[in-house]
Amino acid sequence: MEHKTFLGKSNLRVPRLGVGAMTWGDAKGLARLHPAKTAYGGAHGFEEEKRALEFSLEAGVNLFDTAAMYSNGAAELRLGELARGKDVIIATKFPGGFSMKEEELPKQLEASLKRLGREYIELYQHHYPMPKISIPKLMDQLANVVEAGKVKAVGVSNYSAEQLREAHAALAKRGIPLASNQVEYSLLNRKPEVDGVLEACRELGITLIAQTPLAGGRLTGKYSAQNRAGGLFRRILPQYSRKAMEEMQPVIKLLREIGEKYSKTPSQVALRWLIENPAVLPIPGAKNGKQAADNAEALTFSLTAEEVQRLSQATMAWRK
Ligand SMILES: NC(=O)c1ccc[n+]([C@@H]2O[C@H](COP(=O)([O-])OP(=O)(O)OC[C@H]3O[C@@H](n4cnc5c(N)ncnc54)[C@H](OP(=O)(O)O)[C@@H]3O)[C@@H](O)[C@H]2O)c1
Repeated sequence: MEHKTFLGKSNLRVPRLGVGAMTWGDAKGLARLHPAKTAYGGAHGFEEEKRALEFSLEAGVNLFDTAAMYSNGAAELRLGELARGKDVIIATKFPGGFSMKEEELPKQLEASLKRLGREYIELYQHHYPMPKISIPKLMDQLANVVEAGKVKAVGVSNYSAEQLREAHAALAKRGIPLASNQVEYSLLNRKPEVDGVLEACRELGITLIAQTPLAGGRLTGKYSAQNRAGGLFRRILPQYSRKAMEEMQPVIKLLREIGEKYSKTPSQVALRWLIENPAVLPIPGAKNGKQAADNAEALTFSLTAEEVQRLSQATMAWRK
């Protein structure tokens, strides 16, 4: 399978896998308490984030995902600093926000451009829908910034199938494709297959960007009931409990078994299962160079249809 693709029906040519840079950056003050820093087991700092970017670029992975809200802007600042002068495609997000109004979008965009040190953003995504935000009005604002040349492609995140259709239709009126919807999707969270999101993406030609594709590190095989992941969320959320860690061990065993055939790790096989679907593009989070290099290797092999099927069959309990 080709290593590059177009993001949805946009003109943005991207690798079939990106890098999640949510934990990057030096949070200051209260931003140190932001979930991007506290919930997922800490970060590895400037040098390792630099290596993560460099190793990814060497492997042909030049798509990096961040958001304005990650560590209150510190993640965007770091990505902008590391990406300066390099062939890097930046995907960032603006907050849904309880109080945000559609007309505030240009202000949000300017703040992100400033932190990133860029003239334009390749993929600008609405982070999560909010009841008070009118999707058609927001898409109109996004169409304006595309026409002004400040955004190359429009994406959304955490949108339902219905919201996706509404956003797609509103942008289509302005002649602009909705490029992507970023939702959680992995072997241990197959919700997009049952809630209509994957189907809507396929039908409308929208790329499903799979966030948390390694199930927050659980699919790497390094965590178990005895060796649980660090970080507040990974301590308190049920999917990281001892019981849940035990229940997923047969999945890890199968990932190892399939991986042995190709000399690949469980993470690489888990990412490959997503990549085998042409509508899906995973963005595994990488905290250091080793993780980034490891994840990029998911682009270097293929699974057979039978192996894809075996993995799908073995994770039916997570398809709900
Ligand atoms: N749109 C949204 O609402 C939303 C929400 C969540 C995430 N995201 C995006 O999705 C990206 C990825 O999600 P995520 O970080 O939550 O989950 P993930 O990609 O499933 O897991 C990433 C974590 O797994 C561990 N890891 C990654 N690669 C590894 C490797 N090769 N070997 C060993 N350990 C490895 C690292 O943590 P440890 O080393 O601590 O185990 C890393 O932080 C984020 O960076 C963000 O861009 C978006």
